[in-house]
Amino acid sequence: MNKPNGGTIYTNTWVAELMLDLCDYVSENDLAKIKVVDPSCGEGSFSTEIVSRLCQSMARHRLSFLDLADSFAAYDTDCRSLVIARDAAYRVLREHAASADEADYLSRRWFHLADFIESDQADVDLVIGNPPYIRATDLSLHDRQQYAQQLQTFTFGTDIYIAFLEKGLRMLSPKGKVCFICSDRWQKNQYGTRLRRFITDSGRHISFNCQMYDVAAFAETVAAYPAITTIESGEGFERNVVCSPEFDQSDADELLEALRAGCTHLATSGFTLEPREDAPLFGHLTSLEDAGVSVGIGLATGKDQVFITQDPTIVEPDRLLPIAYARDITEHKLPSSPVRWLVNPWSGGKLVDLQSFPRLQAYFDRHQEELMDRYVAKKKPAEWYRTIDKPKPRLLRQPKLLLRDLADRPEPVLDTGHLYPHHNLYWLTSNVWDLEVLGGILISDFASQWMRENSVTMRGGVIRNQAQYLRKLKVPEYDSISLQDREDLKRAFNTWNVALATSICKELYANG
Ligand SMILES: C[S@@+](CC[C@H](N)C(=O)[O-])C[C@H]1O[C@@H](n2cnc3c(N)ncnc32)[C@H](O)[C@@H]1O
Repeated sequence: MNKPNGGTIYTNTWVAELMLDLCDYVSENDLAKIKVVDPSCGEGSFSTEIVSRLCQSMARHRLSFLDLADSFAAYDTDCRSLVIARDAAYRVLREHAASADEADYLSRRWFHLADFIESDQADVDLVIGNPPYIRATDLSLHDRQQYAQQLQTFTFGTDIYIAFLEKGLRMLSPKGKVCFICSDRWQKNQYGTRLRRFITDSGRHISFNCQMYDVAAFAETVAAYPAITTIESGEGFERNVVCSPEFDQSDADELLEALRAGCTHLATSGFTLEPREDAPLFGHLTSLEDAGVSVGIGLATGKDQVFITQDPTIVEPDRLLPIAYARDITEHKLPSSPVRWLVNPWSGGKLVDLQSFPRLQAYFDRHQEELMDRYVAKKKPAEWYRTIDKPKPRLLRQPKLLLRDLADRPEPVLDTGHLYPHHNLYWLTSNVWDLEVLGGILISDFASQWMRENSVTMRGGVIRNQAQYLRKLKVPEYDSISLQDREDLKRAFNTWNVALATSICKELYANG
């Protein structure tokens, strides 16, 4: 087994030390009794410090090196890194007066060139480290199949760190804990739903979370919303820390001191510490955005009278983009075939060369004065025939729900992938949701009540269904909706049965 460099970002030593301290893995304790696993040791940010603390503890507690044989295990699939980490452990052992044979025996016993997910550790007291970041789709088919077979939370839409969390939890002793520094997105997003459920179902909870966005925690900059998260048995959410980007080793010392003193509230320039008052992590409602729905607004032209036409013969056929327009929606349906087109000056993200399209050129030349009079054309005179926005390449063919802005309630209509939304419509796409099910939720009284309470109401009582409000709209997690409810919501949406949609949502919004 050697799979070089999978999802590798090395942790700075002071962060590994902070995490070990947070877990009370300190040499004053008899660490030989504590079975600790580093699931993906890399070049040894955690393992070197673990071995060092283990040796110090051994000396304090008058044990021998052989007493440490089962106290530690480290895994990595990258041979080069594993050898670096193992050699570092060997050196630490030797520095603590282990004989060459003892150091060789222990370092070989502890370090495994193996896949952590396939390891057979059990009764572990602490699984600690920084798991790899690899999207499921970037794993080999073999690994994906193996992981999906063994783990409840791993899907083809997750990242491997989710698999590491579940595997770590599965090998714990009853009082054991997992402490990882990894992305915190699973705590909020759709792809973390199964893991959150796995955690609560196994009687565990997040006992500590330290949000470290933009903190220099790693050897390189990462944009993965990292947090130190500890999961162990029990309920509730105990301590929550939010670090400022300047959080460093001295802040880490201050934080530890505060926690050890039993402090529950503290705000310094480096961090704030407070207990979390609610338990939103495991709530069944989430925002539309976190439930895996993308929300955006359609394309603005700056001159609809020129760019939007009802005459499909006006320019070359491939310069026409069929467009969805709010006014064309009747009885909650889009027209069955396009009735308006964008006169499209874009191709492959660039403005087309007008000389290649004589009819398009003639058309824009006829309207040049009006087009030049727009702010966007004055700012970029060479692009005088551009629309304000560029069409997004994939959006036309993507199934989407479209909603007009000013309306009494959200009024979604389904486009199966034939029309491009105009600026007077908001669009919703998703890889997670069946859009007809989502449509059913959006037509319910729950969605309209939420929008009424959280968005802007205009004179006359119409509400603004803008993207910024839609994104925050509370919905149940898609996975939590039963197959029967999904079918009923689809039916409600397709027949515009608000009463049916509302009665299903009544259960969904109350349960869980
Ligand atoms: C984010 S790095 C962390 C390294 C180290 N723990 C640190 O914090 O500096 C992740 C490590 O996971 C290893 N890795 C990737 N897939 C693995 C797997 N299935 N089992 C064990 N290790 C794996 C990579 O080779 C890499 O060294």
